[in-house]
Amino acid sequence: MRLKIVGSAAGGGFPQWNCNFRLSRAARAGEPGFLSRTQSSLAASADGSGWVLFNASPDIRQQIAATPELQPAPDAPLRSTPIRAVVLTNADVDHVAGLLSLREREPFAIYASRRVLDVLAANSIFNVLDPALVPRRLLPPGETVAIRDAQNRETGVSAESFSVPGKIALYLEDSSRPDADFGSEAGDTIGVRIAAGAGRSAFYVPGCARIDERLRGRLDGAACLLFDGTVFTDDEMISAGVGQKTGRRMGHLAMWGENGSVAGLSGLKIGRRVFVHINNTNPVLDDTSPERAALRAAGWDVAHDGMEIVL
Ligand code: MLT
Ligand code: MN
Repeated sequence: MRLKIVGSAAGGGFPQWNCNFRLSRAARAGEPGFLSRTQSSLAASADGSGWVLFNASPDIRQQIAATPELQPAPDAPLRSTPIRAVVLTNADVDHVAGLLSLREREPFAIYASRRVLDVLAANSIFNVLDPALVPRRLLPPGETVAIRDAQNRETGVSAESFSVPGKIALYLEDSSRPDADFGSEAGDTIGVRIAAGAGRSAFYVPGCARIDERLRGRLDGAACLLFDGTVFTDDEMISAGVGQKTGRRMGHLAMWGENGSVAGLSGLKIGRRVFVHINNTNPVLDDTSPERAALRAAGWDVAHDGMEIVL
């Protein structure tokens, strides 16, 4: 199986359009060690010709332009795409807005949890993707699903979804229910185990609020883990002076610290550990930062756009 990280940044990308924090400024200035990154998306292929996207980011047009594998083959029909299906892990803007750029009457299939399918159904703008051409299919939790294209042909890629501690999309938060995590329910945020046939699998968890024993048990023995790397420390946006929210408030646990993901996932047998969905305030976006060195020492890599992993 081939995995391509087509977008490695969190919502907003890096640099973010309105951000003047030192990291975005350095990326904008082209300083060495500050790679620009587009918003969160992953592509997987069993055969190198058909691809399944995991999340459709607002940067999808730019991402396809930068990824020959996702472009129509020169000898393909006049209108065509190697993108056979899109699997959604939540309904956040950075994961669904790209669907709107995939209009043009091109068949492919959409897979998501019931909660996320309901969000698409409730927003009529997504009808630019005519369900007769772009079927919307349920990804039932705990089941290994063979991902099929719009015509029901197998892509060779399978996905098993599982609910992870997370949060409902920002624009759907119920502010009258802060104690109930703003109305979040199971299925608002999922992780997926991605495989091709009986080969080794990868876990893709771009959003996760907490690590519990259940998640640790699931990830133990994984060949590859692509995990929520939004913030390095929980209060990072506040100390950077760019916002009021903690990582936790946004449904993302920090990389570092006692309750962070590096500590929370230590001791597990995982072949390759890679952080994805990196926010523009995260100091690891500076390749030469001590935080980046600390991750490296702990066995973690930080994704960049175009990174390829072969399993
Ligand atoms: C998130 O991951 O928390 C969201 O993408 C935030 C957002 O929608 O901007
Ligand atoms: Mn996001």
